[in-house]
Amino acid sequence: MSYELGSIRKIISGEGALGRLPEVAQSFGAKSAVLITDAGVYRLGLTRGAEEMLQKAGIKVTVITDVPPEPSVEQVEKVINEARGAECELIVAIGGGSAMDTAKLVSLSLRNTCTLREMVKGQKPTVRGVPTVMVPTTAGTGSEATPNAIVLVPEENLKVGIVTDLMISDVAILDPVLTMGLPPQITANTGIDALCHLMECYISKKNNPLSEAFSLQGIRLAAHSLRECYLNPQDLCAREMMQVASTYGGVAIASSSTTAIHALSYPLGGRYHIPHGLANAILMPLVMDINRESCVAKYATMAEAMDLRQDGMSDEALADAFVKELYDLNRFLKIKCSLGERGVTADVIDDLVEGASKVTRLLGNNPKDLTREEMRGIYERLIKDNP
Ligand SMILES: NC(=O)c1ccc[n+]([C@@H]2O[C@H](COP(=O)([O-])OP(=O)(O)OC[C@H]3O[C@@H](n4cnc5c(N)ncnc54)[C@H](O)[C@@H]3O)[C@@H](O)[C@H]2O)c1
Ligand SMILES: [Fe+2]
Repeated sequence: MSYELGSIRKIISGEGALGRLPEVAQSFGAKSAVLITDAGVYRLGLTRGAEEMLQKAGIKVTVITDVPPEPSVEQVEKVINEARGAECELIVAIGGGSAMDTAKLVSLSLRNTCTLREMVKGQKPTVRGVPTVMVPTTAGTGSEATPNAIVLVPEENLKVGIVTDLMISDVAILDPVLTMGLPPQITANTGIDALCHLMECYISKKNNPLSEAFSLQGIRLAAHSLRECYLNPQDLCAREMMQVASTYGGVAIASSSTTAIHALSYPLGGRYHIPHGLANAILMPLVMDINRESCVAKYATMAEAMDLRQDGMSDEALADAFVKELYDLNRFLKIKCSLGERGVTADVIDDLVEGASKVTRLLGNNPKDLTREEMRGIYERLIKDNP
């Protein structure tokens, strides 16, 4: 099989990296920029420094602050229309996956004739969009490095991924200072999302030597920093490691793909609006447990990356230790794994299975072919108890 890695052009990382934004904007010759963020991030003042720096550099800035969490097609269309009315030679996204995905779709829409709804239905845009600079404030989705943007399609109760290499952003600025104010539960949920990207890309049928390098190093970084970020939000070093891990997850997605955790999670986000990271976290240990039989050697390698090896352990024992670690991690991060507590009831399981089955783009890459019965069993178990 041949494989490829469509890649972001530049990543600027480390404390104070945001200070490089004017130089980045000037490198595109931009005289105007649209800054896209969400209301929460805006209220926290995380965009103020960027706005001032760009203005000082003589760049006209329009700020759009109304990206909702996990936006729908209609909500993204609204932002596209706002951006159409502004001068926009550069798009800067400051926020989590919601702001970054929206910014990527705005960028494409400003330069292509197909509409967002057409893209959702599978029509492919043909040219790159307005240049984009991504500044993630969660760690996270890795959207700064992926060719994906996810939108909610309410009439189908599902979240849909639009995927094209044309959407891989130009520059990512990873400034860990921006993530220091993340509340512990968002740190936990988004951190598990990053870990899922890294692990799923590694066990995916699309795993390859390019994606593998980013997956394994990302798992190493996340395993050594996520608990620390959760316990000590101000630990800059841990925040920096987690941000790099998250971007590595995005790079891995750009070459491999996520699998059953993400496929089973989309209907939970689509129908119950469970935040993306939390939905993945709820599914993560059980789905990885079920996949174990198909990838013992890979689980052993991931266990090693997490420093779980002790003298004399076989691959089987390492794989067990790895699955146990995932359950332990959820407990440590106080992630409540019961779907029942989130209002999900047994009578909707068939609809959830139907929704997940449609996500063939991801489900087809799972190392083990999951039957409908097995998917039913996963939802059923997670509705009943907290494994
Ligand atoms: N494009 C991709 O490859 C990709 C991958 C995974 C997920 N996603 C999508 O990304 C979205 C989720 O993104 P997310 O998990 O980053 O969450 P998010 O962007 O929805 O943000 C969650 C909340 O955190 C707040 N927040 C963000 N940064 C903060 C900070 N530094 N301090 C305090 N609060 C902060 C926001 O205001 C918001 O209320 C979903 O729509 C998901 O489907 C995309
Ligand atoms: Fe994700």
